[in-house]
Amino acid sequence: MKLHVNVDHVATLRQARGTSYPDPVWAAALVELAGADGITVHLREDRRHIQDRDVRVLKQSVRGVLNLEMAATDEMVRIAIEVKPHVVTLVPEKRAERTTEGGLDLVGAKAGLERAIRALGEAGIPVSLFIDPNDPAVRASKDLGAPRIELHTGDYCERVNPIDHQPGDAELTRLGDAARLGVKLGLHVAAGHGLDYGNVGPVAAIREITELNIGHAIVARAVLIGMERAVGEMWQAMRRARAAE
Ligand code: PXP
Repeated sequence: MKLHVNVDHVATLRQARGTSYPDPVWAAALVELAGADGITVHLREDRRHIQDRDVRVLKQSVRGVLNLEMAATDEMVRIAIEVKPHVVTLVPEKRAERTTEGGLDLVGAKAGLERAIRALGEAGIPVSLFIDPNDPAVRASKDLGAPRIELHTGDYCERVNPIDHQPGDAELTRLGDAARLGVKLGLHVAAGHGLDYGNVGPVAAIREITELNIGHAIVARAVLIGMERAVGEMWQAMRRARAAE
């Protein structure tokens, strides 16, 4: 089972002040040193967190897998073909949304997805489709020619009470069934969105899911775990100034 860490929200913190820090590229290096298998970033059309520069520098610096999440637009396909991440995950994107809501519309957006999968495939970039965990979506992904799928775990994470996170839960069953079908059809199956320290266990236990993409929970925890040291370093900087008087 592989862990890919999404560092978008390190960039969110940077963009909130227009500073050059915290740099998601630095965060990605620390994430890899901590043992993660890959880095995931979402280059959104509105550039609200990750910037074009981040993707380009990450392609140079990431030692494991760089997974670029993006909408299936001509602009994004052009950038991906230029930068050549190891994998592209196509996701639905709405301007007003706070984060990706739901999986791709594989019927309504079929023509655009087909075009993007073909262009990226010809450039040697494997494509993963971010889909809702159900039978028709898995089969449609296969028919579209994508070698990979990422199952949206949002419903499992949002609707299920933490104490219900156990085998037999309906959302968990949906994830397991979709993952098994994906593997049966020869697809690489990942999962992600909304996973945290409390709910990750039952999803990680599904053997057919071989990769998890997790971002917000890890970045949020890093902020708290690092707080004591960060405050201590500020005290040191202040005391140095007094000692130098
Ligand atoms: N997978 C996909 C396709 C996503 O769009 C996101 C969010 O950017 C994630 C995984 C990570 O979700 P979270 O930040 O909730 O862990």
